[in-house]
Amino acid sequence: MNLIGPANADDLAGLPHIRDDLSAKDRKRVERVVAPTTSFGAAEKFEARQGGAGTSTKMVNRDSLSHFNANLTFREEETFKLGNALFRKLWVSSPSSTLASDGLGPLFNARACQSCHIKDGRGHPPEGTADATSMFLRLARPARTDEERQALESYVAASLPDPVYGGQMQDLAVPGLKSEGRMVIDYEEQPVSLDDGTVVSLRKPTYSVADLGYGPLDPETTLSPRMTPPMTGMGLIEAIHPADILAHADPDDRDGDGVSGRVALARDPATGDIAIGRFGWKAQNATVRQQSATAFAGDIGISTPDVPAGHGDCMPSQTECMELPVGIQLDLGDTEAPDPVLELVTFYSQNLAVPARRGVDDPEVLAGKDVFYSLGCTTCHVPKYVTSRKADNPAHRFQLIWPYSDFLLHDMGEGLADGQQVGVADGTEWRTPPLWGTGLTEIVNDHTFFLHDGRARNLTEAILWHGGEAQTARDGFAGLEKADRDALIAFLNSL
Ligand code: HEC
Ligand code: HEC
Repeated sequence: MNLIGPANADDLAGLPHIRDDLSAKDRKRVERVVAPTTSFGAAEKFEARQGGAGTSTKMVNRDSLSHFNANLTFREEETFKLGNALFRKLWVSSPSSTLASDGLGPLFNARACQSCHIKDGRGHPPEGTADATSMFLRLARPARTDEERQALESYVAASLPDPVYGGQMQDLAVPGLKSEGRMVIDYEEQPVSLDDGTVVSLRKPTYSVADLGYGPLDPETTLSPRMTPPMTGMGLIEAIHPADILAHADPDDRDGDGVSGRVALARDPATGDIAIGRFGWKAQNATVRQQSATAFAGDIGISTPDVPAGHGDCMPSQTECMELPVGIQLDLGDTEAPDPVLELVTFYSQNLAVPARRGVDDPEVLAGKDVFYSLGCTTCHVPKYVTSRKADNPAHRFQLIWPYSDFLLHDMGEGLADGQQVGVADGTEWRTPPLWGTGLTEIVNDHTFFLHDGRARNLTEAILWHGGEAQTARDGFAGLEKADRDALIAFLNSL
């Protein structure tokens, strides 16, 4: 079901389908370098430095995802550090005595970026505690008027908010204001048998809301759970040339491999142009800056020049919320976080280094890499790219990077479906997440929860949840011998 079908095709035609940053000779060279390998006897050249020249080769520990790109200039390192302070900053409610820190909420999910992007890594499901901080529910409903349809079709909006609760459920509020409600997850264990008789239990979540503060949700509002993804390599993802993403799209599955892959589109607020959506679990945001500005507004309730809503995600019908003071201090600017806050946080977000691979030459890792390629995982988890020579930041230009993603939307089957249309993505589609840094999850975040809602408790479960376009790859995994399954997991853990 592609609700934005025809418009989508026209809009795609306007994007560059050929790399306009390279000479014909360089294009050939790049094609050779990024062609998937067919030889698994030894590591490929530069494979260990999966983030290119900026790859962090620092010691593996809890800080492994928090280093800056190794090829920043000294001045840029300083900018990164200022951005880091703002990424960690705990915002407070207004009016406060701390100048330039207030404006929190009035409704919010967390007080700092870092509260969700824990150690710049991933969040986790609540796990039986009341702490749902690093995961929340996005709310959306279908269009009801021509105007609303027009807004979606022209990518002015990625989705339409619930009339009372807005675009996401905020489970926290400033003192004196009711919070919106609480996400409730019920897990049901479902045993799955692999071909060799091994039984793996998958937990199937069901989502609902409790303690609603402002009456019922609209009957047509859908709930889409989102666990916080890691911050690794964002600027490099942004630096991938659009032609290289378009090249993997195959919406009508012309090559007949059962995998289609659609390009997500969004409007880049900086230029007003239609651009490829790359960020978020449904690839609804085109740039890191756009993603950061919507996070300030929706997750923390802080207005920025790009999203100047002082009351964050409060809706007009939430009158008590709308009447509360906002944190604007006119001597500093006309938003709660005036320039250069968003610029600094964006710079920080763009420059968290990709960690170096561990054990690229280990025989088990190489065997697992072979399995990864032969099962067809690389159809979606595309191994490598050479970034654009035109990238904004010289540190991100012309780098050989290994994110293991096509940044396209795929139908992943009913098991993972949230039933929510966001931008181009329909209710069964998700963006292929990059896999670099996967193996550091446990060291950095003390857990191994994967997928958009953290339902997978380890990598094996994450693979077994793959359905839809990935069904064949998933079945291939279920048919492996234990030694090959172990090798595949060892490969993923080396990323
Ligand atoms: C309440 C938790 C929360 C807070 C606070 C938060 N984020 Fe996020 N962040 C998320 C979630 C969840 C996603 C995935 C969003 C989606 O799929 O719609 C995300 C996605 C992102 C991404 C894109 C990652 C990717 O792989 O595409 C970036 C960049 C980002 N956030 C930056 C920020 C910045 C900067 C801040 C602070 C201004 C921030 N976030 C605050 C939860 C949070
Ligand atoms: C049809 C495209 C496709 C194929 C083929 C595919 N994947 Fe995925 N993969 C995805 C998408 C999309 C997601 C995100 C799904 C979600 O979060 O609901 C994902 C998620 C993952 C994750 C979890 C990542 C995270 O950050 O939570 C892992 C690990 C993974 N895939 C490994 C594999 C392996 C191993 C194979 C081959 C056996 C494979 N995938 C085949 C598209 C694909």
